[in-house]
Amino acid sequence: MRRLLIRDLAQVATPATGDAPLRGAALGCVDVVDNAFVLVADDRVEAVGPMGALGASPVAGTVEELDGRGLSAIPGLVDCHTHPAFAGDRAHEFALRAGGATYEELLAAGGGILSTTRATRAVGAEELETIVARHRDAMLAHGTTTFEGKSGYGLDRATELAQLTAIRAAGGLPTWLGAHAVPPEHPDADAYVDWAIREVLPEAARIAVAADVFVERGTFDVTQARSYLEACRAAGLALRLHGDQLSEIGAVGLAVELGARSIDHLEATGPAGVAHLAASDVVAVLLPIAALYLARPMPPARDLVDAGAAIALATDFNPGSAYCESLPVVCTLACTQLGLTPEEALVACTVNAASVLGLEDRGRLAPGRRADLVLLDATDWRHLAYHLAGDLVHTVIREGQVVFRRA
Ligand code: NIG
Ligand code: FE
Repeated sequence: MRRLLIRDLAQVATPATGDAPLRGAALGCVDVVDNAFVLVADDRVEAVGPMGALGASPVAGTVEELDGRGLSAIPGLVDCHTHPAFAGDRAHEFALRAGGATYEELLAAGGGILSTTRATRAVGAEELETIVARHRDAMLAHGTTTFEGKSGYGLDRATELAQLTAIRAAGGLPTWLGAHAVPPEHPDADAYVDWAIREVLPEAARIAVAADVFVERGTFDVTQARSYLEACRAAGLALRLHGDQLSEIGAVGLAVELGARSIDHLEATGPAGVAHLAASDVVAVLLPIAALYLARPMPPARDLVDAGAAIALATDFNPGSAYCESLPVVCTLACTQLGLTPEEALVACTVNAASVLGLEDRGRLAPGRRADLVLLDATDWRHLAYHLAGDLVHTVIREGQVVFRRA
């Protein structure tokens, strides 16, 4: 057995309980141990505690040691919503938006998601694998040890499957976002959904773990989304929705009706939607970078939490509405724009995000859990949210191995 002892850490901070998704008061419960150690055995956490306790029971056998002085440890971050399988960029559209064009106008004019789709169709499967691996490495450098990645920039059979394969090859959890936009070769959304279910779903379901749909005016309405999601559920996929990003057209009701794992965005959600979600098991995934980037209102995070809803936080990393890989930046926005505490933010992008992905083995530093850790260059773990876009991530350990060390 290979052992790794991270010793003399200024702090270890971890969600206090693992019964995710946590909600209410439990969402804000983080255990903090000062002057602490973490002992890893192979790919699992063996023990966490104060240095004093370690002295009393010396670790047997060969142990590699890592000096944690001046650092604090948190669980590896879990990004449960990203779109990393795309080619090209949208710098031109970014400039147009800076000049006043809106996201909806660009999409309606054949730009937005459809312009990234053209670029993504033009590259081969091999290049897509290189691209996703590059984005995975950038996420890792920001402390993300587990990521979900969506397709949705192929919208044809070969490219959708290549996206899912590239995400899996990079170690991500693939989500088939087959219903992201209607590509021009199909006459309308109904025809496209029928085609995608018939031609892509059978193979997509073999690679993906979940399915997702963009429920919005100009993309897919609730009836089309229901057909798509019901077919995906029958094929064994967990269900996710992009809902209430720009307008409320019934996505929350559909998510609850179908027992979806999550509904993501919610920038446009009003009090009825908040109450509906709070009374359900659907996790509200909040994406404050997308709201910031598109200059939209922030989602009603505090209302959701206070009403008892389960929430998670994610980057929404994509080339159009959230070109940012950093969960620490998400945590800063959570505390400054969403009204969450640093503790709630940490829980939301660790155990709760893992539960959106159906993963119970990570997101907490406790014996038996996967040894995924981030060592922050700060003696107080709350710098995670406090230091806006700071160069904070010192070392990242995934499954007991050091996979990133700051230069
Ligand atoms: O989550 N809103 C839909 N999908 C993405 C954006 C995709 C894009 O603009 O390329 C999102 O914001
Ligand atoms: Fe998204």
